[in-house]
Amino acid sequence: MARKVLVTGGCGYIGSHTVAELQRQGYDVVVFDNLVKGHHAAVTGAPVIVGDLLIPADVQAVFRAHPDISGVIHFAAYIEVGESMEQPGKYFQNNVQGCVNLLDGMDAAGVRHLVFSSTCAVYGTPQHVPVTEQESLKPESVYGVSKLMAEQVLGWYDRIKGIRHTALRYFNASGSSFDGRIGDAYKPASRLVPRLIEYLLGQRTDFVIYGDDYPTPDGTCIRDYIHVDDLATSHIAALNYLWGGGESMAFNLGTGAGSSNKEIVQMVREITGLDFKVAVGQRRPGDATRIWADNSRARQVLGWSPRYGLREILETDWQWHSTHPHGFDD
Ligand SMILES: NC(=O)c1ccc[n+]([C@@H]2O[C@H](COP(=O)([O-])OP(=O)(O)OC[C@H]3O[C@@H](n4cnc5c(N)ncnc54)[C@H](O)[C@@H]3O)[C@@H](O)[C@H]2O)c1
Repeated sequence: MARKVLVTGGCGYIGSHTVAELQRQGYDVVVFDNLVKGHHAAVTGAPVIVGDLLIPADVQAVFRAHPDISGVIHFAAYIEVGESMEQPGKYFQNNVQGCVNLLDGMDAAGVRHLVFSSTCAVYGTPQHVPVTEQESLKPESVYGVSKLMAEQVLGWYDRIKGIRHTALRYFNASGSSFDGRIGDAYKPASRLVPRLIEYLLGQRTDFVIYGDDYPTPDGTCIRDYIHVDDLATSHIAALNYLWGGGESMAFNLGTGAGSSNKEIVQMVREITGLDFKVAVGQRRPGDATRIWADNSRARQVLGWSPRYGLREILETDWQWHSTHPHGFDD
């Protein structure tokens, strides 16, 4: 019989792509989401339980209704770095207490395997690139700290309750599904590629690159963009690793290569056939010059490898955003 997987935040961007991949691979899926940022329409063919991780009774009800859940993938969190610096309590509550409530619900139900969405923001500005999991953990935002705190909570629930986890530290999640059905519907767009596409669709008046005087070949910052469908397969590999007896561990998930802001702009020009100007603004405080992942641990231990590069990311994002200029209808 197919194993049943609970996906918190499954109506969000990365969650909905992972739900689709789980379904493709034959898993039984239950989604839990409060729909504060997610969209019901992003999930088809799986039950969506509308509830809030901050309400313990909501969490307990899921495990009571589905006593056969054998693993949890935990995406539900708030994700905006800027907002986290203005409303820290909102982030500590949702991203840390929400995780605690989930773990207590799992413990009571006897569920012992959790795949957690972490982030490269736990490293802050790394000393070395490519970034390995041994890099020092020095987050520079409340968002990053809240994710690191959740990782530490997970460590204690392993020691005390025997709940094993993987902390998947994503680099820059991007791209949309190849069939054009789902994509990054997060509003207001916060990531670079959706912001650029919103500009091309006339939904914002300008698109700014922050700084072109960095010590990189073209002067702009370099990041590691990883296709959301590659992230989706990594979660299933991580669950199988845990089900196979793997110990709790953190994994960097990136392609292992970086792209500069200017490279992205140039490839978007090629893909869309549009010629456009971009503005150059001041550097933003705290923006690292260049970050990309050393993904060898995920390759070796999880047997995972990314299949897509920047072109597929930009093509699928352009397809999704240009056909869904306002996201989902709900
Ligand atoms: N997008 C990125 O580039 C990126 C990078 C690193 C890590 N992450 C992590 O990946 C995860 C998913 O990110 P995303 O980009 O898909 O964000 P998203 O906002 O699209 O998805 C999060 C989902 O969780 C739901 N949610 C939030 N709080 C909840 C609560 N208390 N109870 C129930 N549901 C709740 C939201 O409604 C939403 O559907 C997050 O944990 C984030 O920190 C994202």
